[in-house]
Amino acid sequence: MQKTARKYSRIAGLYDLFEWPIERLFFHRLRKEAVQHSYGKTLELGVGTGKNLPFYPPDQSVTAIDFSPGMLKRARARLQALGHSEIELEEMDAQALSLEDNSFDSSLSTFVFCTIPQPELGLSELYRVLKPGARAVFLEHQRSGNPLVNLLLNMMDPFMRLLLGTSMVRDTQHNIEAAGFEIERVEFKTLDVVRLIIARKPER
Ligand SMILES: C[S@@+](CC[C@H](N)C(=O)[O-])C[C@H]1O[C@@H](n2cnc3c(N)ncnc32)[C@H](O)[C@@H]1O
Repeated sequence: MQKTARKYSRIAGLYDLFEWPIERLFFHRLRKEAVQHSYGKTLELGVGTGKNLPFYPPDQSVTAIDFSPGMLKRARARLQALGHSEIELEEMDAQALSLEDNSFDSSLSTFVFCTIPQPELGLSELYRVLKPGARAVFLEHQRSGNPLVNLLLNMMDPFMRLLLGTSMVRDTQHNIEAAGFEIERVEFKTLDVVRLIIARKPER
């Protein structure tokens, strides 16, 4: 198992508790908003403990993957409580998806591309499995355009890498564009650090 997957499995039991304050204040409503941009046959990458699952409409078909068995165990418990029969959870590495080319209408990732060990690989896999014209929704934190904010993010970075394998200073929007996605809309949610990015795989 990958080092990052092991880290997440180790902290899975405390993960929701650890994030509770920021979740209540802030992330909860952002998740709801992000999920609303997904549609049709949807792929969720890095589902974690399944915090986005309650927001999917009951008839939306969702394949949600994560490479951490510990996080998936929590997501399974959440899914069982929800009783949403159109959601499937699978243990899978986003950098090597065992999914068919051009097979999803939309995708969602929330706070995942800061953590995927090789984000470029994850984005190229995502691009491969989305249909031409499909929508890719990202709710992610990333480096800022403001040097002072970046100073703070750089200070937090070693701690977050050690704890969760999470980078505070990746340029995720740039990575998304570099993978070939067309950016349709970017909304800054906390300064320019937390961003809702709506992108599309070009038609051809
Ligand atoms: C910061 S957590 C976010 C979880 C969830 N998306 C949320 O918003 O609460 C990052 C998640 O991405 C998963 N992850 C990171 N890299 C991955 C990869 N290569 N393949 C699958 N899952 C991955 C981790 O196991 C973890 O559950």
